[in-house]
Amino acid sequence: MFEFVEELAEKQTLDDAGLRRLLESDDPSLAAFLHHRAREVTESVFGDKVWLRALIEWSNICRNDCLYCGIRRSNKSVVRYVLSHEEILCSCETAYSLGLRTFVLQGGENPRAAAGLAGTIAEMRSSWPDCAITLSLGELPAETYALLRKSGADRYLLRHETADAQHYSRLHPEGMSLNARLGCLQTLRSLGFQTGMGMMVGSPFQTTDNLISDIRMIERFKPEMAGVGPFIPHHGTPFADRPAGSVEMTLKMYSILRLMHPGAMIPSTTALSTLAADGRKKGILAGANVIMPNFTPQLQRAEYSLYDGKDTRRIEARENLKALEAELAAAGRSIGLGRGDYKKTNTHA
Ligand code: 5AD
Repeated sequence: MFEFVEELAEKQTLDDAGLRRLLESDDPSLAAFLHHRAREVTESVFGDKVWLRALIEWSNICRNDCLYCGIRRSNKSVVRYVLSHEEILCSCETAYSLGLRTFVLQGGENPRAAAGLAGTIAEMRSSWPDCAITLSLGELPAETYALLRKSGADRYLLRHETADAQHYSRLHPEGMSLNARLGCLQTLRSLGFQTGMGMMVGSPFQTTDNLISDIRMIERFKPEMAGVGPFIPHHGTPFADRPAGSVEMTLKMYSILRLMHPGAMIPSTTALSTLAADGRKKGILAGANVIMPNFTPQLQRAEYSLYDGKDTRRIEARENLKALEAELAAAGRSIGLGRGDYKKTNTHA
């Protein structure tokens, strides 16, 4: 019936017409079949495991002014903060004691301060040699990327945001460019980082063609990780009145990306669970295999607001982990122990 979904699953690619049909269809049985195939592939590569990443929102100070983002430079109502060395290590300690083995340091783009993280990263590396350290700190000079890599970071997330240069310029202020972003991704890869890219679903002005270009760009780059979540408006930005992206479209993207990149790490994002109470589970059932619980100290957490209504469920206590375990069990999944690196499959050979 849905031969082109089978084709995508078997060949790990599909032509533009097929992708368009998938993205534009509102047939729930087509979506259900797509998710079903993506789930089968996820399970064949990763078994029933879902990996947890401890998200530590290091700082909301940002030199950029991205039109969609709540911590953009011109949003003067944000109380800016930077976590201290001790606060970061304390969050890591909590996450480690609960069994998490990946720490993600995410923050606004602040090159000088980012370079200053090298000592903290080195200490994390020596204190927890069995953990992966992921960074998500925006566009930095190649020397800084090299320094952070040398200090012990293994992975870097830098969403490309949109593969269309024109669209990119409608989402970002003058001075930012898709080319610069792609240059950073190349640098990161050449330094030996496992690299993540991705975009929002339903960002202002986004078309189906844009999403197809995103899929193609990811197909060419073959990142080890792909981060995709719905756009959600933030009241303090120029896009305050724009509609949010759709849950269904986000889920379709997870499935398409899973079928094209069987061994990639794909998070069921916080933005998705912000839009739908059962979003996290739906993401997992559509092909995602990572969840990123928030370990930012409570005091600063509210100030790291990229979009309105952010899902701030707490995880620090063992009860919360138990609740997450139960939610995953209901989806036939269990929590993976260990770093949870991507799997080499054909697409990465
Ligand atoms: N809605 C959803 N995602 C957002 N991001 C930034 N602002 C928003 C928003 N309003 C995403 C961007 C960025 C990541 C850290 O968060 O894609 O790369």
